[in-house]
Amino acid sequence: MKPRITVFPHAESLARNAADSIANFCRQTARSQGRADLVLSGGSSPLAAYELLAAEPYAGIMPWSYLNVFWGDERAVPPDHPQSNFGAWLSHGGNKWPLPPKQVHPMPGHMGAEQGAALYEDILRRRYGPSAQPRFDLVLLGLGPDGHFASLFPHVRALQEDSGWVAPIDAPSRIEPHLPRISLTPAAINGAKRVLFLAAGAGKAETLARILGPGAKPDPALPASMLRPKGEYLWYLDEAAARLL
Ligand code: 6PG
Repeated sequence: MKPRITVFPHAESLARNAADSIANFCRQTARSQGRADLVLSGGSSPLAAYELLAAEPYAGIMPWSYLNVFWGDERAVPPDHPQSNFGAWLSHGGNKWPLPPKQVHPMPGHMGAEQGAALYEDILRRRYGPSAQPRFDLVLLGLGPDGHFASLFPHVRALQEDSGWVAPIDAPSRIEPHLPRISLTPAAINGAKRVLFLAAGAGKAETLARILGPGAKPDPALPASMLRPKGEYLWYLDEAAARLL
């Protein structure tokens, strides 16, 4: 599906609209199917939205008792490590989300990339059964300066993975932190009902123009250009990031 791009004046309005969109989509989904499976992104872009979702008015909209939370990627570190995506979520509002532990499914970064990826694949397979893809309702993603999303860096083998759902990723040499990762694969993400990218700041403008601009085509050097969501495909940008579109 073609990406639908929405541009907001600045990062604060982007975060507020993202929280509004996440809360209302999860509520509608829970109402219609009795559950809402949300995949969170790492990085800094979604943190302000996580904080907003922990408080009114968004906390009152979120269907907490029907919500299960997963991660799109994780560094191969324990949850109390300063570079843990799960740890970042906890310290940016996540510890105030009223969810019981059984509804929160962090990637087991403490087990290392290989074992952690295998266990998370098993967790997802047990939840979604033998279907071809996990049935995530909403997947949040951020965009790296090199066009990566989750931990799918340029040219990694997992970009071409068409059946596995979770992959171990070697430590990237050019992207901080230089840590091995666990990442969902494009196959796991493309099956979601909705994919929502959040990207703000002038530093993303060049990469966004190559991914979303006219004539853009799939390029393994630019991982986000390889994504083909089957469901709704949304980009929330601020004006600085959208400058070249
Ligand atoms: C990670 C993230 C990564 C992030 C992008 C954008 O583990 O680092 O999942 O994919 O979303 O690098 O990062 P920012 O949001 O900090 O720009």
